[in-house]
Amino acid sequence: MKYELPTKASQEVLSIDAREIEAMLQGPKLAIPAFPECMLKLKDGRTLYIREAKMEEVPAMLSYMEKLMKVEHDFYDIVGSRVYSEILGWKRKRLKDPYTLVGLVDGVWAGFANGRLMNEDINISLHTMALIRGGRIGAAMYYAKAYYGFEIIGNKEWWATYESYNGWLRWGLGMAQPSYPWPDVQHELGGAKVFYVTKKYWDSTVKEYVRQMVGADLDFNVTDEVRKANEKFVVPEEVLV
Ligand SMILES: CC(C)(COP(=O)(O)OP(=O)(O)OC[C@H]1O[C@@H](n2cnc3c(N)ncnc32)[C@H](O)[C@@H]1OP(=O)(O)O)[C@@H](O)C(=O)NCCC(=O)NCCS
Repeated sequence: MKYELPTKASQEVLSIDAREIEAMLQGPKLAIPAFPECMLKLKDGRTLYIREAKMEEVPAMLSYMEKLMKVEHDFYDIVGSRVYSEILGWKRKRLKDPYTLVGLVDGVWAGFANGRLMNEDINISLHTMALIRGGRIGAAMYYAKAYYGFEIIGNKEWWATYESYNGWLRWGLGMAQPSYPWPDVQHELGGAKVFYVTKKYWDSTVKEYVRQMVGADLDFNVTDEVRKANEKFVVPEEVLV
């Protein structure tokens, strides 16, 4: 848009440093404590090691997501596509206060969970994926990010929504999450219903979830052996879901 100037301007064309535009677009970040690495014994005896994803792992993660986007069952395609854009959004700094967790079993990428902070109080759960099925890895990854929100960041509320039956079954029903009136309140993932957990409900009930679902708690005292087994981030060659 161009308007005629209402006064003389000594410089009619102003040049702007793109870094200044970047500051406008990104906005200031919240100071978020890091997610400490943890481990969890799965029901079949394997150990799931959970940590924050590293920026240098993004290219490998994106390549694998490209494969998952094409999986036409259990909503892996829509979730894979959205996760691709969220990982890229993290890299390109187009997500507000994101966090990205990966779960590894003997170094192999087995689970994914991410979200972002709307503000200091509300944590928006974005996506969770099991990249290896049958071990309740997805259940554990989701619990780990909710634990991060309530116990480490100090959020007061958790907002989720569900694209898939497995997701709704695991956490909507599995955590007996209530929902806000819809369409009055909509989740940023496609305007779907917001299912939520308050800190009070987390403390009274949901903290038990992973013990009930997987049979063990998150263990933040990661052993050298587990750390070593997961030293290298290995993306599966084939789609395993
Ligand atoms: C939702 C999700 C993360 C849950 O992961 P999960 O907790 O590890 O559980 P799975 O979906 O793998 O398995 C669900 C059940 O079906 C069984 N199952 C499903 N597919 C299976 C397979 N290919 N092999 C073995 N078991 C399978 C599991 O054993 C499990 O049974 P259980 O309840 O007795 O443990 C996972 O289904 C997923 O990644 N789905 C696609 C992405 C998605 O929908 N994300 C959530 C968006 S709302």
